[in-house]
Amino acid sequence: MFLPSTLLGAAALTASLAQAASNYALVDVYDQNNFFKEFDFFTEADPTDGFVKYLDSSAADHRSLAGYIDDAVFLGVDDVNKTQSGRASVRVTSKKAYTTGLFIADIAHMPAGRTDSQSCGLWPAFWMVGPNWPNSGEIDILEGVNTQSSNAITLHTGPGCNITNTGSVATTELMSSDCQGNQGCSQNTQSQNNYGAGFNAAGGGVYVVEWTDQSISSWFFSRNSTMATSLASAASNTTAAPDTSSFGLPLANFVGGSSCDISQHFQNQQIVINTDFCGQWAGQVWDQDSTCSALASSCDTYVGANPEAFSEAYWLINSIKIYQQSASSKRAERQGLPFSA
Ligand SMILES: *[C@@H]1O[C@H](CO)[C@@H](O)[C@H](O)[C@H]1NC(C)=O
Ligand SMILES: *[C@@H]1O[C@H](CO)[C@@H](O)[C@H](O)[C@H]1NC(C)=O
Ligand SMILES: *[C@@H]1O[C@H](CO)[C@@H](O)[C@H](O)[C@H]1NC(C)=O
Ligand SMILES: *[C@@H]1O[C@H](CO)[C@@H](O)[C@H](O)[C@H]1NC(C)=O
Repeated sequence: MFLPSTLLGAAALTASLAQAASNYALVDVYDQNNFFKEFDFFTEADPTDGFVKYLDSSAADHRSLAGYIDDAVFLGVDDVNKTQSGRASVRVTSKKAYTTGLFIADIAHMPAGRTDSQSCGLWPAFWMVGPNWPNSGEIDILEGVNTQSSNAITLHTGPGCNITNTGSVATTELMSSDCQGNQGCSQNTQSQNNYGAGFNAAGGGVYVVEWTDQSISSWFFSRNSTMATSLASAASNTTAAPDTSSFGLPLANFVGGSSCDISQHFQNQQIVINTDFCGQWAGQVWDQDSTCSALASSCDTYVGANPEAFSEAYWLINSIKIYQQSASSKRAERQGLPFSA
């Protein structure tokens, strides 16, 4: 939408947005049929210093910490053995990288404790990241640590990207508008069913991210909502793209406007799914969390000595679908041309 909005009536704007959605074509579906062919196992030391040992695909397979269960993709952690060197876990990265698109993740279960207060030490994340961090950007779709009970959605970029959150639901709070570096621009959400034990108790749900040259928007639909039901059934349909203009306000809307050129700061991002422990986030804030710090003097000590605490620390992912606009429809949108051609 590069035409000033004053040149477009509200009705025309709405119509062209709806039309844009229908120009999406399905490009990838990751699910029980192909997931482990399309994602690689990350086996290096954790760049964020977690108390974790990432397994390769054969070790993860052998220890039943990755595989297909109940028609879904399972990614787990060792919940049996004590350890002094890091808890066994898996972190996977999509082979393909994406620049813009509509990403729909149907997630049945995420790593958590049985209650939020039993999630100490955990740092689960479902995110996207480009090369040469942070210069190609990072989109943290579902992430948190320790006893956190609602999702925080965050972008990270190089210098020169400040966003506004115009259009987010009213309960979401923008913590910082400058997306630069480690801190990033984060939006804290309120709902108890969009993260952790509450998410799992509700049967999970569907996270949607729409990334365009103008904005990055995220919605969440809990399992039993009408929209989640409709998106989940569309998951078996290989052609139809949902129309985000019918979704209502995003849970978190990041608008580039004149202070962040999204197309310059976000590129070639791979999808990453990770279960980490402690490290530069969960470990760093351990002492500030009264529930967790009462359990042990350090995050590593607790995670190493209490394998049984992590019996719910697994991902079950029904599907991840990616739609993108065809080059010609994108060009039409950029130039403000009619879409009918
Ligand atoms: C616990 O450790 C043993 C010995 O290394 C290993 O065989 C087993 O798979 C581990 N259990 C899990 C759940 O990772
Ligand atoms: C972003 O915000 C920071 C802090 O308020 C400011 O110093 C910087 O100039 C802003 N950058 C842009 C691109 O607006
Ligand atoms: C969701 O709806 C189904 C069918 O009505 C019901 O059996 C189930 O208990 C509900 N789940 C939750 C978590 O509310
Ligand atoms: C898939 O979507 C297309 C386009 O909306 C629709 O015509 C078709 O009936 C759908 N198929 C299934 C199996 O739902």
